[in-house]
Amino acid sequence: MKTRHYNPLDHLVMNFDQALRTLAGKPLVTERPNPAQACEDEPELTEYQKDESIRLMRVNHCGEVAAQALYQGQALTARLDGVRERMERAAEEENDHLEWCENRVRELGGRLSLLNPLWYLGSFAIGAGAGLFGDKWSLGFVAETEKQVIEHLNDHLEQISEDDVKSRAILQQMKVDEARHGAAAKMAGGVDLPQPVTKLMQLTSRIMTGTAYWV
Ligand SMILES: [Fe+2]
Ligand SMILES: [Fe+2]
Repeated sequence: MKTRHYNPLDHLVMNFDQALRTLAGKPLVTERPNPAQACEDEPELTEYQKDESIRLMRVNHCGEVAAQALYQGQALTARLDGVRERMERAAEEENDHLEWCENRVRELGGRLSLLNPLWYLGSFAIGAGAGLFGDKWSLGFVAETEKQVIEHLNDHLEQISEDDVKSRAILQQMKVDEARHGAAAKMAGGVDLPQPVTKLMQLTSRIMTGTAYWV
């Protein structure tokens, strides 16, 4: 198949379109069903349980906004020879996560983070920056991000009530997906990042998740 070559203006328009879809519109999702749909008999949650679930699912939604922006930023600058398609599938699956988390927050009567545009911009810049260092580093960056996301998801699964079966089903599926994304990035040549970089990434995500819990 002939690949179309996009000029810088095309890229700018496409990125803007993606940003709007992520922040305010309908993201382009895959064919997969929302894992929460499989949980029919959901126990009644207490106000406290609901409030905690809303906050944590808002944090997860925010993380997926950042994931979208990272992938978009990276796609702008990285060459990703031969792996671009796989990365695009991963980005689409992140959109599933984005939608599942948003649906769950709304279903529980909550709202999304007001700072999402800020996280999007920041993460876009980081993704584009990582892409400039070359594929092995930018894929290594994806692998490290996914690893850290899985750690977060594990923490959240400990904090969210056992009764909130829908949120838990979503987080479990996300964990499976993130592990696959991380493994794919490693297989495609991603290298381990130096420790100061991984520490900085942890710090950044702690600021983001800590803020999104409240705002
Ligand atoms: Fe994700
Ligand atoms: Fe992922």
